[in-house]
Amino acid sequence: MTQAVTSQVVILDYGSQYTQLITRRVREVEVYSILLPGDATFKRVFEDNNPTAIILSGGPNSVHVEGAPSVPDGFWEECEKRQIPVLGICYGMQLIVHCLGGKVEGLGKGEFGRMPVVDIPTHTRLFGEDIEPQNVWMSHGDEATVLPDGFKCIGKSENGCVVAIEHETKNLFGLQYHPEVTHSEKGMRTLKHFLFNIAKCERSWSMANVLEEQIQIVKEKVGETDHVICALSGGVDSCVAATLVHRAIGDRLHCCFVDNGLLRYKEAERVMEMFKGELHLPVDCVDITEKMLSELKGVTDPERKRKIIGKEFIECFKEYKKTVEKKTGIVPKFLVQGTLYPDVIESCPPPGSDQKHSHTIKSHHNVGGLPKELGFELIEPLRVLFKDEVRRLGKIMDVPRNFVARHPFPGPGLAVRILGDVTENNALETLRLVDEIYINAIKEFGLYDEIWQAFAVHLPIKSVGVQGDQRSHSHVVGLRAITSNDGMTADWYPFDPKFLQEVSNRITNQVRAVNRVVYDITSKPPSTIEWE
Ligand code: XMP
Repeated sequence: MTQAVTSQVVILDYGSQYTQLITRRVREVEVYSILLPGDATFKRVFEDNNPTAIILSGGPNSVHVEGAPSVPDGFWEECEKRQIPVLGICYGMQLIVHCLGGKVEGLGKGEFGRMPVVDIPTHTRLFGEDIEPQNVWMSHGDEATVLPDGFKCIGKSENGCVVAIEHETKNLFGLQYHPEVTHSEKGMRTLKHFLFNIAKCERSWSMANVLEEQIQIVKEKVGETDHVICALSGGVDSCVAATLVHRAIGDRLHCCFVDNGLLRYKEAERVMEMFKGELHLPVDCVDITEKMLSELKGVTDPERKRKIIGKEFIECFKEYKKTVEKKTGIVPKFLVQGTLYPDVIESCPPPGSDQKHSHTIKSHHNVGGLPKELGFELIEPLRVLFKDEVRRLGKIMDVPRNFVARHPFPGPGLAVRILGDVTENNALETLRLVDEIYINAIKEFGLYDEIWQAFAVHLPIKSVGVQGDQRSHSHVVGLRAITSNDGMTADWYPFDPKFLQEVSNRITNQVRAVNRVVYDITSKPPSTIEWE
């Protein structure tokens, strides 16, 4: 928790797909929240995090199953002693009922999807003035059939199931639906009522505070004389992290942007211009195109490509460290990384995975993910933030909008979008042109911000076509556009056919090497977002 934060909500994660969403919803109303694994210890919940309120998340388990996750010993007594309000959502509500002496049963029917909550009494503490029936997003198999002593039902589903409960006197509440999703009409009102009127949380989480505090932390950590380096990828995270560190220590920050020969159309020029012209960040562009492409020549296996690119990048960075040392006479001690909160959360693992915790650590090669043997201490000013918060932080530091809202771009660049040997058939040039036309059209049609990521793929096949009355035998390109929250799962974006028609025309008219365009209609899973 940051020093400026006066209220903190702890969310215990029992594995619902919506758990991160709850955490973000709480932060959206300017209350700091953190996500802890459902089996966090007593000490971690209460002593390390001193919660103002606790939310127990939903999850796929049934409270009856042996080994089903629960709260730590002494949890209820401690909440009562410290007067910490608890809201259980779905599985969380069932835990309240089960642990405190009520009965939860699987009656074999379940309720899923949108449905109204009815029979809300005139006086409840949790719903405040919202006593009319309200549509919510329900998702449960088991239900509470007997409530523990002191609890009353404050809402039923149309089928008569108990879907909202509260204790007569203690601050214990349960909802059998998801207040955090937008399908639950008054869900946010209920959540806010719980946070502000019941738990008396204060609004103390703002990006301005985060900025001030992180600058202070960096200043203290780096001190008056040490130097710091940062690898910029051209993506929003490393850019915002570097901008913040630059504000803290000025030109003792040395940024390096690597042109690895696998970048998009005019990417290196554009990014360098933006760093220098608009952000006034000192950035060295290191061009390793020649070396990289010679190493990649003839390589078609996706994993080998990734390994080669990773290795070349590290070599380049070692050189850069020496360059900084030569320039300043000081060995740079720190490395800035744009690690985000979703990368450090220990979430509940998917059921049946046999894992204890699913650490969401990317196995990807990432420009920030340099190996330990380089011997840096890390500076990670975005470690507590979600992506949308990083974008807001960028905005208040005047990072240009078109930069803050950029789609993610993978470290290995176009190499994972050219299937087969990247050095053959002028594939890089072709792909750059196609990608540029595609992305420009998406922007022109006002769709860029709706889409999480869009790009073109160069396929290692040729097909027959007819161009200018002549038979052609040219390349096929694939287009991909997806929506996602975090890149872990994704859906393909349903473009209007008119848009696809227009883009396909533009590509085949403007790029001679291409005579066929296909659109990728696969979600993740079973596909991944990138093709390699
Ligand atoms: P996949 O293809 O694994 O991609 O579904 C998920 C997200 O991660 C990006 N990606 C990478 N990012 N280094 C990165 O920095 C990588 O090696 C890498 N591989 C994939 C991908 O673009 C998508 O946003």
